[in-house]
Amino acid sequence: MEKEQIIIDCDPGSDDALAIILALHSEKIDLKAVCSVTGNGALDTTTRNGCNILSLCGRKDIPLYRGSGAALDEKIPHTVSAFGDDGLGGYADTILSDKIEERMHAVDFLVEYVNDHPGEITLFAIGPCTNVAKAIRRSKEFAGNLKRLIIMGGSKYTGNMSPVAEYNFWADSQAAHEVLQAGIKEVVMIGLDVTNKIAMDCNMREILRILDTRLSTFVYNITKEGLDDNWRSRRKAVSPMHDVLTVAYFIEPSILKLKPAYIDVVTKGIAKGQSIVDINGHWNNGDCNALYAYEVDVEEFYRLFFKTVFGEDITEIR
Ligand code: RIB
Ligand code: CA
Repeated sequence: MEKEQIIIDCDPGSDDALAIILALHSEKIDLKAVCSVTGNGALDTTTRNGCNILSLCGRKDIPLYRGSGAALDEKIPHTVSAFGDDGLGGYADTILSDKIEERMHAVDFLVEYVNDHPGEITLFAIGPCTNVAKAIRRSKEFAGNLKRLIIMGGSKYTGNMSPVAEYNFWADSQAAHEVLQAGIKEVVMIGLDVTNKIAMDCNMREILRILDTRLSTFVYNITKEGLDDNWRSRRKAVSPMHDVLTVAYFIEPSILKLKPAYIDVVTKGIAKGQSIVDINGHWNNGDCNALYAYEVDVEEFYRLFFKTVFGEDITEIR
């Protein structure tokens, strides 16, 4: 099977870690590079976590490019993460490695690599969109040369930073707006409307503990703080898994149901970071700039995640 080339732009982050881990275990994916951005921690934290996650999976050969430490407006977004101070639920120190980042800046890398491989690269934006927006500003060809952009961000019906705003779009709303307006051929917005539904419950986490491998134990550990945070703030005993759904969708598109939509992001005021999702471009002369994910097959997602990463058939062990 010919693998598809992808780049992950992210702010690891426990759920970013899961996305990288799933990508590295898929026979459909050739992960070319990881780029870091501020989000689930300061840039030093997300960059170091990215290097260490690649090492944990035995892929020190995959380059990590350090990206933007602040949003387009040069302000550093709020980086208090549901995954704790180190972004990995207090377990970042359990995967320390000697892998070092590349010297090139993430934005320079994105522009160079995507323009050298026109129509070949699927880019995942699973942190604030700053690096991607800067690449679009930097190069006229960049947006047109992307094969596809898969974003974890936004939502139609809910928020996690305000009643209406999701974190990645809120943290750099101008960047999210510019990315959505850039004319990229295929943009898939996978937001809270579906990612909230795949939050991991305690039974599922228990399977990770029982599997008792270094990787399953790591995933068990880094999902603990998210679970505790959800319990403290919402009385829900589930752990956020948002970003991993982007990679699961790429591997098995039938996991999500999508509708064409015209999507834009509010950049100022009380609704800053809100994504306005106009299904079928009803209010926009029928023009659409993205695909909006409105439904997820949760069973199928977990079947795919456990099978791909751990080789276990969840339907048999549950
Ligand atoms: O709102 C969820 C998103 O914010 C995820 O990408 C998570 O990692 C954080 O960046
Ligand atoms: Ca993220």
